Amino acid sequence: MAVQARQTVLLGNLLAGGARTLEQYCKRGGGGALARAHSMAPESLIEQIEASGLRGRGGAGFPTGRKWRAVAAEAASQKFVVANGDEGDPGAFSDRFLMEDDPFRLIEAMAIAAHAVGASRGVIYLRKEYPAAAQSLDSALREARSAGWLGDSFDIELTLGQGSYICGEETAMLNSIEERRPEVRPRPPQITAQGLFRKPTLVNNVETLCAVPWIVEHGGAAYAELGFSHSRGTKLLSLNSLFRRPGLYEVEFGIPLRSVVEDLGGGLHRGQLKALMVGGPLAGLLPPRLLDTPLGHEEMQALGAAVGHGGVIAFADDTSLAEIVEQVFRFGAYESCGKCTPCHLGTPVIERMFADGARRDLARYRDLIHALAATSLCGHGRGLAEFAHSLERHFAGELATCFA
Ligand SMILES: Cc1cc2nc3c(=O)[nH]c(=O)nc-3n(C[C@H](O)[C@H](O)[C@H](O)COP(=O)(O)O)c2cc1C
Repeated sequence: MAVQARQTVLLGNLLAGGARTLEQYCKRGGGGALARAHSMAPESLIEQIEASGLRGRGGAGFPTGRKWRAVAAEAASQKFVVANGDEGDPGAFSDRFLMEDDPFRLIEAMAIAAHAVGASRGVIYLRKEYPAAAQSLDSALREARSAGWLGDSFDIELTLGQGSYICGEETAMLNSIEERRPEVRPRPPQITAQGLFRKPTLVNNVETLCAVPWIVEHGGAAYAELGFSHSRGTKLLSLNSLFRRPGLYEVEFGIPLRSVVEDLGGGLHRGQLKALMVGGPLAGLLPPRLLDTPLGHEEMQALGAAVGHGGVIAFADDTSLAEIVEQVFRFGAYESCGKCTPCHLGTPVIERMFADGARRDLARYRDLIHALAATSLCGHGRGLAEFAHSLERHFAGELATCFA
């Protein structure tokens, strides 16, 4: 598998062979950001994160500085920092490599975040299917404690996920950490005010947090020089098995999708490109004619797609649209938490509609998608509806043949 970076905000240690001990991490320059952060006032730290333009890498692209400020503004005796390492998007494996090979970067980032927002406890919520990352983080946490990075004022515990995609949705994840059924919570209240055990909680994705030490060391302005438009900095992309060069890539935002497919991925090793899924199955499917679109949150949204978590899945022209839709809705149905009826009961109906030889009813299909979009409490149901909308928009011809 290829690991490549055009800018090394995140992948420097991975490219150098990993930093699994504190000694290796510090030898490669790690730890400086934490020392610097402790000499800074929380407000100045938050200002640097705001100036960087960093946005959440877990899928929604929410401005990180705004979230940090909201948690910092809460007056509470206890606050939490939670790193979302559930990485459930099919085709995404970037957080996995950060946690396995560079675990101290995440720990350093969480300690910096805790100082900024006034948190005394941290939790890393780790996808259950990542045993090597669990080992690596467990040993790194013990070393960080012995070295005094963690202790009485801020400590981190590792919690293993419950093996379900919905556990990555932040409110379901908090329920899971509390050992409740991992169902989505209605909002408000926002979790920045009432999150884990109803205390103010900062939830950030692993990749988001891993950018923080670089920002603290180089300054928010230096980070904001990378990327383009409203998408600043770098993004990890996981290129999947249909590419000639699958692997983990760090790119600046603004790179055209064509360059991702052709220059990084080397094109496909079978057939012609039919469609590209970038942000996981809860986002839109794009046709090859849109490959000149630059990678950016608003640019992708304008097409009904998303940057999401950056798993790039290519489909070749020997795959029918019906097969793709059936698979996406099978995934959606299997992973629904069951709380919202259209998501729980509607998605398996759509899955069956697209099975080989099934009877398909366009009006019913559209009704079910409308209900998913209008009534889902979380991005699972709403994201599946986004996927369906992108088919109407970009693959209308082939979709029509499915209902002919
Ligand atoms: C169904 C669903 C699954 C999600 N899975 C993940 C996940 O595996 N990892 C992640 O970081 N965020 C995931 N998210 C997004 C989180 O709810 C949340 O927005 C994110 O962890 C916030 O961190 P960020 O602002 O740094 O991106 C998921 C969202 C939904 C709706």
